[in-house]
Formats: sequence, structure tokens, C-alpha cells
Amino acid sequence: MTGGGPDPLEDLLGLEASEARAALEAMGLRVRQVEADPSPPRPEAAGERRAVRIRRTGEGECELMTAQRAQPSPSAARGPVHVAIIMDGNGRWARQHGLPRALGHRAGVRALRPVVRACPDLGIKVLTVYGFSTENWSRPPMEVTALMHLLVEFLRREVEELHRQGVRLMTIGDRSALPEEAREELGRAIERTAGNERLTLCLALSYGGRDEMVRAIRRLARRVRAGELEPEAIGEAEVTQALDTAGLPDPDLIIRCSGEQRISNFLLWQCAYAEFWAPDVYWPDFTPEHLRRAVETFAQRERRFGGLRTDG
Ligand code: FPP
Repeated sequence: MTGGGPDPLEDLLGLEASEARAALEAMGLRVRQVEADPSPPRPEAAGERRAVRIRRTGEGECELMTAQRAQPSPSAARGPVHVAIIMDGNGRWARQHGLPRALGHRAGVRALRPVVRACPDLGIKVLTVYGFSTENWSRPPMEVTALMHLLVEFLRREVEELHRQGVRLMTIGDRSALPEEAREELGRAIERTAGNERLTLCLALSYGGRDEMVRAIRRLARRVRAGELEPEAIGEAEVTQALDTAGLPDPDLIIRCSGEQRISNFLLWQCAYAEFWAPDVYWPDFTPEHLRRAVETFAQRERRFGGLRTDG
């Protein structure tokens, strides 16, 4: 595993080149702008360059690398619409850097920002992230408290920016188990961003696939008891509708960071035909470039959904 700690400059990745440049100059940095691709920009792409790499090159100066905004390619039609990420490795990242676990989680929150921003350009319409599992309640109280504080801080700090980017926020999981402060901030954030359509950011909080199924079964059972539903009328569509993810497409691609290859109670019903990708990188070091690679890998896979190869 390689990679340094999160740098505030990384927050600017994915922005329009001019926006990133202005932000860097506002930080008091001299900016040298370079192009990633030597080919001349297409005339129709004027003003569509975005920041793909920013690095400090000396005291008070930095290099801003820009590239043409990704254009829908012929393979984009085969790109994942719903990507779900198991943000694993915060603790190991912290240990690697000699830091307490809570700072690993803080670095994890930072890593989320540029990844969210990169989604629309990659054709992703829904991003689900595993923020806190039903099993995570068994962690030491101090770590649970730190994670809940981070969630509240994240919501307070990021909601306006998410709204500006056209992101709709939603959650899956047992929200009633979260502390009141987190529930209130979530309620506000969800209401504030409800009309946005560019990307849905779905936070899995106090979420477990089995717990979600149990709650869905209870919902269906209550409808049967109320005489609204015949048991024989329960099919896959009814179950899908009773889950927290009702209304969302199934995930096409599940990414688990840190090289582990487990599903860990994540989207158990919904992952039936999801592709899986497990990069060997701790979540705080995961960047939009990893996401782009994941999407590229996905586009090369052949999904048969239980059928036969299309070439026979
Ligand atoms: C797994 O790392 C990560 C988690 C249990 C929590 C993920 C949470 C965040 C990225 C921050 C909070 C999220 C939001 C949405 C505000 P781990 O602690 O299991 O790492 P390890 O396996 O290396 O110990």
C-alpha cells in the first residue's frame, strides 16, 4: 500500500480548471497549469477542462494538471449506473501513518468528497457508500462516538456543496438507531437536496443486508395482516419494493477497498448480479482515478445475468 495523507488540494480534483485555479490562488499559491493530454483540445470542449492532478512543487507554488472532461464514449452505455463502495481500511491506514483510528475515519470522510464529485462525469447516477454497519455498533464506544460526530460534521459542512453539485442525499439502514443529532442533520440534508437529480448519494448507516431484509419481511407481513396483500402475491418485485433501496436500481458494481474480498452484509438482495472489484488501496487513499479504473474494468466485463454468452 502506498500514498500519503489526504491533502486539502485533493478536494479540488474534478473541478473545472478555472474554478480549481481560482481556489488555489485564493489559498495564496502560485499556479503552473499543465495539460495532461498533449493533443489540442477539441473546439467544442472549450471551457470543459477539469483538474485531474494537483501537487505542491515548492514553497507557495503548485502544479495544476488539467484534462478534457470525459466525454460519453461508445462504452459509456455499458458503464455502471449504480456503484456501491465498502470504504474499508480506515483503521489500517491510520496505523500505517501512526495515527489514532478516529483520524483514519476522518481521512475517510475527506476521501469521499472528490469521489462524489467525479461520479456524474463517469455516468454514475447512484453512489451508495457503506458508512456504518449494524455490526459496527459493537466497536469500542469511543470509536462509535467518533464516527457519529464525523457524520454530523460531514452533513453540516458538505450539504450546501452537495446541493450545489445537484446531489440528492438519502440513507438506507435503521435510521432510528442513530443518535438524535445525526437523525436531525440527516432529515435536514435529505429535505434540502430532495429535488436534485444529477447524482443520488446513498449513505448506508446502521445498515446490514440481513437487518434490512428482516425489516422488509415485517413490512410485508403487516400488509398481509391488514388484508392488503395475499401471501401468494408476494414476488421479487414486492420484496424489492419493501427494502430500504426501493426506487433505486440494483448496484451494477461493488467496490471494496483494502484488498479484502468479502461482501460483509452489504446489499445482500440487491447484489445478485453486481460485478465486484477489490483494489489494493485503503479507502483514505482511494481517488477518482481508482473510480475511473473501476468503471473501465466494469465496461470490459461481460454480464450474462444467468444467460449465455452473446456470441454463443
Ligand atoms: C471501515 O474501515 C470503515 C468504516 C467502518 C466506516 C467508514 C466510515 C467513513 C469513511 C467515515 C464516515 C462516513 C460518513 C458517510 C460520514 P475500518 O475501520 O474497518 O478499517 P480497518 O479494517 O482497516 O480497521
